[in-house]
Amino acid sequence: MQGWSLTVPVLVVGLALSASGQTATPPSGQQVAGRVASLLKQMTVEEKVGQLIQLPGAYVPESAQTEERLRKGLGGSVLWVRGVAALNKLQRIAVGESRLRIPLIFGLDVIHGYRNIFPMPLAMAASWDPPLVERAQAAAAREARAAGIHWTFAPNLDIARDPRWGRLIEGAGEDPFLGAAMARAQVRGFQGAYVGSPGHVLACAKHFAGYGASEGGRDYDSVYLSDTQLYNVYLPPFQAAVDAGVGSFMSAYMDLNDVPATANHFLLRKVLRDAWGFRGFVVSDALGVGNLLNQGYARDRADAALRGFKAGTNMEMASGTYGENLVRLAGEGKISTAELDDAVRPILEAKIRLGLFENPYTDETAVETVLETPEHRQLTRVAAQRSAVLLRNEKGLLPLSKTAGRSIAVIGPMAHNADNMLTDWARQGDPKRTVTIYEGVRDKLGAGARVEYAQAIDMQRKYPSMFPGSASKPWTQAQADKAYAEAVALAKRSDLIIMALGELASMSGEGASQSSLEFPGRQQELLETVSAMGKPVVLVLVNGRPLNLVWASMHVPAILEAWHPGSEGGNAIADLLFGDAVPGGKLPVTWPRHAGQIPIYYAHNLTHQPETAPNFTSRYWDESSFPLFPFGYGLSYTTFSYSNLRLKQPQVKLGGKLEVSVDVRNTGKVAGDEVVQLYIHQRAGSASRPVRLLKGFERIALAPGETKTVSFVLGKDELSYWSSATGGWVQEAEAFDLWVGGDSAARLHGEFRVVE
Ligand code: BGC
Repeated sequence: MQGWSLTVPVLVVGLALSASGQTATPPSGQQVAGRVASLLKQMTVEEKVGQLIQLPGAYVPESAQTEERLRKGLGGSVLWVRGVAALNKLQRIAVGESRLRIPLIFGLDVIHGYRNIFPMPLAMAASWDPPLVERAQAAAAREARAAGIHWTFAPNLDIARDPRWGRLIEGAGEDPFLGAAMARAQVRGFQGAYVGSPGHVLACAKHFAGYGASEGGRDYDSVYLSDTQLYNVYLPPFQAAVDAGVGSFMSAYMDLNDVPATANHFLLRKVLRDAWGFRGFVVSDALGVGNLLNQGYARDRADAALRGFKAGTNMEMASGTYGENLVRLAGEGKISTAELDDAVRPILEAKIRLGLFENPYTDETAVETVLETPEHRQLTRVAAQRSAVLLRNEKGLLPLSKTAGRSIAVIGPMAHNADNMLTDWARQGDPKRTVTIYEGVRDKLGAGARVEYAQAIDMQRKYPSMFPGSASKPWTQAQADKAYAEAVALAKRSDLIIMALGELASMSGEGASQSSLEFPGRQQELLETVSAMGKPVVLVLVNGRPLNLVWASMHVPAILEAWHPGSEGGNAIADLLFGDAVPGGKLPVTWPRHAGQIPIYYAHNLTHQPETAPNFTSRYWDESSFPLFPFGYGLSYTTFSYSNLRLKQPQVKLGGKLEVSVDVRNTGKVAGDEVVQLYIHQRAGSASRPVRLLKGFERIALAPGETKTVSFVLGKDELSYWSSATGGWVQEAEAFDLWVGGDSAARLHGEFRVVE
């Protein structure tokens, strides 16, 4: 064990600093390595272990001890502290009072915005617009950084194919290709061009890996994934994040094939570091290391710490087992100096790259100017417009006209409740500055129409949320009956009804899985009652997951999926309903008819008896094998036609590139966006391949009558897969089908061969 040294580290290499103190040009790897080596030489074992500890901040009782630990250099990071003053106070202790003056790195969940809240991440994926997603996360980063946060625990890259899982909302949905595109965009948005870009934060790819495949969609439950599923489906977004330069990873909570992800050597060493060459650091999920005991994996807290550490979890979030045990384990020779240095090194590197040594504090006077910019606000509105998915629009009911003198009812539990426009991960957002659907519609029409609102229904979770304060006081039966009757009466006296239905924010997110996809409460009944009045009804959905829309898709003429759309949600929805914006989002998930079809995803394998076989129509006798809406689906106020599919050559050599192009024309009367999608199918190989796989997409804007040519390139990456037969990546000389169109059921077909 090293003794205490009195030397204060001298920072050998100066860096070019921007006004904020962040690095205006990135230091070279050599410069950073030199500074880290010089620090490591001066650090005691206690101080090294200190860097591996993330202390829980304000919301956890032990926070009283936090300051004392920081003074001794026994903490490298603090999370869950909000407010620049509080953050600066802790930083002053670390930098001003600890022996080596190593700054803290402050982490927080900045998932879809800091003050200005963007649509939930699944909705952002529904935009199929990576440049927009990058701009949004850059705005979130700017706000977070101005508020003293250096590190966000995002993006969430968990592929999820079970809509019962509450954390579906945090990722990009079911598809690895779309997921990888969203991963790259988010990493670039959060981090900027390099770790330490001014006004940006360190990103954290989470939850590594497989979390979205928990059994039954129950949060935290075990995950069993074959190598085929891992490599082809669940890992690609994480690898894309590494390729985009993500600075940190968070391990997941659950068991992966019986080994908790927090202590999973295969994931954290073999895949992440050895195969992908990740050089950043891994933080556990909150209390994840300590919880190895609960999982029936570790014998005691020392065993948990040792196993988490050895597997490659550099920093422990909040459970304290590293602090309790690692110094002693190092003294007993169970952890070598080299192992300890390897664990600390990337954490110090990140702090250097982020410019924290030079400028550890945040300007308390500048925060509000960054948080309230009209540009960020406008960006949240555009993001909500571009994320919405139009699921049905019979006889062109939408867009609605703004004709004066109409009476419009906005009815339902999602109509005028700001909390539900946000999510449980938007805690820095301000519900008071969040626009509801009722407000958005009312403000859009001004004096031109009578817009009235009725909540109609009160919804509650059966079991309370793990997040305190998210439940409202339930209505009494009398209150509920009265509100329901008032809503029905309002519908009766109105010309047009906007039904705003869905789910409470607390019904999605962590610890918020559900067993059913039915509308909670009396919403379905209300929808049927109002629809029976024979008036025009528009259903706007504010929710986190696909719900059972079988009845609605036959009886409600217009359905707009708005998700939890963020601070400007109400304005964006009004823009869409009244034609000031045109829906162009597409589903990032397959939409089941009901929970009995789960799991259902477009990229399934063929069976020996496909649906097209004679006398065979469905693999259920009581239900279709097909979903209600396919992956990639979404309508517009205009229509598009696809033609002239061209493959530059009919065959491509192994490792070569194939160019594909198609003409897309706006055949309607208004300008609109189309997401052009390309799917492939490998007809034979060492393993069966999914019936279709997304391998290219582009969102384009087309004026009425305009045609654009969209081109895609299929190369080795797109044409390879992990084969369970060979136990590795393969590209095979085989025949392929190819489809291009506006969703995963696209019909425009081509074919090509990969040849030796
Ligand atoms: C969640 C993580 C989150 C962490 C810190 C955990 O409960 O699973 O996604 O980053 O808390 O807030």
